[in-house]
Amino acid sequence: MSDTVLTCENVGIRFGGLQAVKDLNLKINKGELLGLIGPNGAGKTTVFNMITGVYAPTEGDIILNGEKINGFKPHKIVESGIARTFQNIRLFGYLSVLDNVKIAMNKDMKYSILNGMFRTKGYWKEEFEVNSKAMEILKLFDLDNYKQYSANTLPYGQQRKLEIARAMATNPSLLLLDEPAAGMNPTETEELMNTIKFIRDKFGITILLIEHDMKLVLGICERLMVLNYGQVLAEGDPIEVINDEKVINAYLGSGGA
Ligand SMILES: Nc1ncnc2c1ncn2[C@@H]1O[C@H](COP(=O)(O)OP(=O)(O)OP(=O)(O)O)[C@@H](O)[C@H]1O
Ligand SMILES: [Mg+2]
Repeated sequence: MSDTVLTCENVGIRFGGLQAVKDLNLKINKGELLGLIGPNGAGKTTVFNMITGVYAPTEGDIILNGEKINGFKPHKIVESGIARTFQNIRLFGYLSVLDNVKIAMNKDMKYSILNGMFRTKGYWKEEFEVNSKAMEILKLFDLDNYKQYSANTLPYGQQRKLEIARAMATNPSLLLLDEPAAGMNPTETEELMNTIKFIRDKFGITILLIEHDMKLVLGICERLMVLNYGQVLAEGDPIEVINDEKVINAYLGSGGA
């Protein structure tokens, strides 16, 4: 088999009269860190929504590790190995940092409701394992000292990191990050950049990153794809892509997103 993790073949979606994405052809190789950029409203989040089963594409196919996944429900896609974070943070704000990660791991839990009700040996063993694994993940993101805090009491940058930690808890082979640096200050962005690089290198995970922060994009992406009005405008080496006249004009036309 090839090293391709995800392929989009002529993928498109139409919302009523609006063709939000058209003829998208995309290949991501194992371990690659690919940046998806483009002006506001270009269709970037819609691409994530199609890959993760929030919307079924109206045209084309999405193939994950050789298996066609378009039309799969979101939970099935998580099981197939894709995890994501959202443009607007979606944490369980009143739950603890630790519980936010443990919830994401429930696809790996095997104990039954009865085991849980009667707190059998199997229940405690599994609970212990899940706790340990969740703590390991929190440590990777330097969040272990906050494990008992309610998620919504964390500073913004930490909440963004917790979202990534939670996505990692599902053991994905492909991680989709939708503007993870949005609203972060430069120090937080720098730290995030190192975290993303670190998890890619440590787990050999494949990452597709939507981001407006060019310092972050250029700092970590090996390849860029630019969307404009739902279509691919340019793709390739990051420096070449951002100096491409078509790309510059698209950003200027949008008011410099
Ligand atoms: N469920 C929907 N119904 C109708 N139109 C939609 C829907 N989702 C997205 N759109 C439209 O599709 C287009 C692309 O939106 P999308 O959110 O993918 O853009 P984006 O590139 O992520 O922009 P931004 O950088 O602002 O996040 C926009 O015109 C948007 O209004
Ligand atoms: Mg978006």
